[in-house]
Amino acid sequence: MEGIDTKRWNSYGRVRSRRLTDLQRKLWSVLLPSVSIDSFSDLESNTQTYRDIFVEVGFGHGEHIAQLAAQSADTLFVGCEPFVNGVSSLLTKIDALDIKNIKIFRGDARLLISEIPDGALSGAFILFPDPWPKRKHIRRRFIQKDTIAMIHRKLKESGVLRMATDHPAYQIWIKELLAQYTKLFKVNFSDSANRPSEQSWPITRYERKAAGDILYVELVKIGE
Ligand SMILES: C[S@@+](CC[C@H](N)C(=O)[O-])C[C@H]1O[C@@H](n2cnc3c(N)ncnc32)[C@H](O)[C@@H]1O
Repeated sequence: MEGIDTKRWNSYGRVRSRRLTDLQRKLWSVLLPSVSIDSFSDLESNTQTYRDIFVEVGFGHGEHIAQLAAQSADTLFVGCEPFVNGVSSLLTKIDALDIKNIKIFRGDARLLISEIPDGALSGAFILFPDPWPKRKHIRRRFIQKDTIAMIHRKLKESGVLRMATDHPAYQIWIKELLAQYTKLFKVNFSDSANRPSEQSWPITRYERKAAGDILYVELVKIGE
């Protein structure tokens, strides 16, 4: 399809699965150019308008970011997602709910986050990241020491990082990793029986399909 560059980043995963509907194709050519960014510097004028900036890594079909953005018009949400059908789903929600405070980065969230000035980010979300269960693929997991350290640097004091996964091995991986960060973050774990409120933490498509127990993690930055 013209105008869609699916080769700009090797995501290790699928970048497109379904044909887009006519409405989605229209939104891709009419709406996407005004909401899409290629780098954090494209947000310059927006950073003065909005009090807080939040980033969602791998927003999938956009349920979480769209609901939060619709609830908080004074906050800017930047969604990162290379998956074409996911971007199309989010465009449909932005259009239907007339959302003005979402920008979309169609690439590797690490590139976007690395460009954010230190201490400028109010929060980040990494919900149901691909678990890469095979041992030889573990380095592909998004949640790594380097990524957590980078997000910590970018967060403001009291800034928040939320993560969730239903994958048992990824849950252990996250808990082990975070044991090294107790001086830098206040760490709070919840499980499916004590799920955070849907209003503050909207449910994603992946979460609805999740079979096992879910680990919800909220980190609040407390130190440098
Ligand atoms: C398992 S899906 C979860 C989607 C959504 N968060 C949910 O809960 O429904 C993981 C998503 O992360 C995206 N993704 C993987 N690596 C990424 C990266 N480095 N930057 C941005 N998105 C990424 C994938 O394209 C995929 O859509």
